[in-house]
Amino acid sequence: MDGAAKKYLQEHNYYRETISMSSQYTLISPYADTTVVRTPEVTLKGIYHSRSNRFIGEEYLLNFRTYSARLDFRIGISRFRARDALLSFAMRDRKEDTTGTIKLPKAKNIRASFSSVLQARRSVRVFDGPIPLEDFATILYYSQGITGYLKLRDKEVDADKIMLHATPSGGGFYPVRLYLVVWNVTGLDRGIYEYFPHHHSLRVVRQDYTSQELEMLAGFGEIDINTAAFSMAYVYELYTNSHKYGDAGMAYAFIEAGEIAENAQLTTTALGYGACDIGGYNKQTVERQLGLDGISKQVIHFTIFGNGGVV
Ligand SMILES: Cc1cc2nc3c(=O)[nH]c(=O)nc-3n(C[C@H](O)[C@H](O)[C@H](O)COP(=O)(O)O)c2cc1C
Repeated sequence: MDGAAKKYLQEHNYYRETISMSSQYTLISPYADTTVVRTPEVTLKGIYHSRSNRFIGEEYLLNFRTYSARLDFRIGISRFRARDALLSFAMRDRKEDTTGTIKLPKAKNIRASFSSVLQARRSVRVFDGPIPLEDFATILYYSQGITGYLKLRDKEVDADKIMLHATPSGGGFYPVRLYLVVWNVTGLDRGIYEYFPHHHSLRVVRQDYTSQELEMLAGFGEIDINTAAFSMAYVYELYTNSHKYGDAGMAYAFIEAGEIAENAQLTTTALGYGACDIGGYNKQTVERQLGLDGISKQVIHFTIFGNGGVV
């Protein structure tokens, strides 16, 4: 290090800490190719691990949308308004078997300043007791409920419109389904449910999970799970949009999960509650608990909700 650099670091001693923050991962990171400071351990790890296991994200992005000129992609896009596509969208509600489902109360009409809600939203990690069923239903409705429709020009007896949801979806496929783990919602039994947007109802997945299982499912870091109310798992159904978009369908699903999550958080804030997105969920455990195969149906995001606005 030359004299000027030494002097600079002496005057800005705290910079050392930021270097330490960004380089400490070299000791534990398996991604030796991308770490800045290569200790002998990391170089060794790289030989065994990183070369054959580079960032899958990098591979994905390098292969993402390389095919805009391909005929199949163009045909797929141009067929968005083809009659068979429109009819299949118009009959999508048939996918929801309402036998034994729980009808949710109508969503509240929220009157809150939009700017204030946007400014007030913060990730909340300290909660305080249950949320009433009506507010739970309101959060679900504004996250992914049916908020409008598109009329078909040539209607059929039982297919005359396409229902549209609160959040956008590439090609109108809506490949992200919402699963709810509920343990503190007044008026709703503890259980795991799937939200049916077309019928604004819940399908019971299971109602028999133990406190230990809940801790495994949703107990993360500093959040005391017993004080929170419910969590939302965003489940990507791979084959719903990938037959049209190929691997790009996955990127769309991540985007759509983010749009749903933001709607959910803003609604939660507007109602006076709090939520926190969770990246550190245990994917395989959550998928097992939700009864998903982890192949065609995968959990791609997770949020915890509760009563309380303490950050
Ligand atoms: C994809 C994603 C994953 C996150 N994972 C976690 C998490 O595992 N634990 C946590 O406490 N916060 C998590 N957060 C919340 C962020 O820490 C938080 O959004 C950030 O610190 C900014 O603060 P704010 O949301 O209050 O504005 C996550 C946020 C996102 C978008």
